[in-house]
Amino acid sequence: MNDTFLKACRGEDVPYTPVWLMRQAGRYMPEYREVRGTVDFLTLCKTPELAAKVSFQPVDILGVDAAILFSDILIPVEGMGMKIEFSEKHGPVLPEPVRNRALMEKLTVPVPEDELSFVLETIKILRAGLKVPLIGFSGAPFTLATYMIEGGSSKNFLNTKRMMYQNHGVFGGLMEKITDTVVAYLRAQIRAGAQAVQLFDTWAGVLGPEDFRAYALPWVKTVIKELKGEGVPIIYFVNGCAGLLKDIRNSGAQVIGIDWRVDIGEAVRKLGKKVSVQGNLDPCALLMPPDAMKERVRDILDKGRAARGHIFNLGHGVLPEIPVDNVKMLVDAVHELSGK
Ligand code: CP3
Repeated sequence: MNDTFLKACRGEDVPYTPVWLMRQAGRYMPEYREVRGTVDFLTLCKTPELAAKVSFQPVDILGVDAAILFSDILIPVEGMGMKIEFSEKHGPVLPEPVRNRALMEKLTVPVPEDELSFVLETIKILRAGLKVPLIGFSGAPFTLATYMIEGGSSKNFLNTKRMMYQNHGVFGGLMEKITDTVVAYLRAQIRAGAQAVQLFDTWAGVLGPEDFRAYALPWVKTVIKELKGEGVPIIYFVNGCAGLLKDIRNSGAQVIGIDWRVDIGEAVRKLGKKVSVQGNLDPCALLMPPDAMKERVRDILDKGRAARGHIFNLGHGVLPEIPVDNVKMLVDAVHELSGK
């Protein structure tokens, strides 16, 4: 069992810096496209044998130090009673967004063992075959709320902010239901075998610090507090974290995931010595000439040494356009340059 990833999460000594990549399973990989060619995306997420198969792929092909469950952050949202579609062009679409109290009150908190059992089944298949730790995940409450309120991706998050500012009670009620769902969902993932869990707050960076403290962070803290007793590392990733690090430091997470718009050395100074850090190469730096990319990797590794623990990752997910060979080169470079 390769446990460098878990050791780095806990801030223990490691022989080299572990690396995994957000969206390491996906369309940039021919082996993924082959499986995906036979089923639509939601069917892939809901068929444990296939979801496990594409989770294994990057571990075998890239040699990363952790696997991540193959699923999507919107899967539990469907479990809450919302319709979800994935369009090739527009990404996720929720045709009936939650914009008022009546729609909010209709939502339910799913029982993972019943409504989301396919995820737990996928985790069991993965644990039986993996020699690296398995990361489970969920969207963080604010990010899930944006999809539920906007009905999909958004540019200005006007509907979300309108509800935050004008309809405090409805927003709070929605966040409470999402939080209960996330806690139950992650607890079930851990009990099924996930050895760490990551909360993806992809859109929290659209909030200023005051709004982050008022409308996102309190529910993240609740999730983390509720899960602490389960005994696995919790990673909190905020895309666009630069202006929020001092608040993120108080989330209670043992590992903080950072995007590439902040210097990792500066992030480590702001986060302090009580947490490990995960990140943060620009996903597009995979298009640099090899030597230039390796210089970026070396810089991140050097600065990461100041943290309690460092897990190398991209600052966001692997993009579909990136050649697999470049991704392999990155994983090898992290291992080589950090002493494997
Ligand atoms: O990281 C992994 O390898 C595990 C799989 C994973 C997916 N989605 C698969 C996926 C994970 C961890 C996610 C999380 C997710 N989903 C997030 C948070 C992380 C992030 O990227 O910020 C978000 C915001 C979503 C919502 C989502 N799902 C969007 C916006 C899209 C469309 C964009 C795109 O890349 O197509 C998806 C679809 C999606 N999720 C795909 C995959 C592999 C592509 C679907 C396909 O195969 O057609």
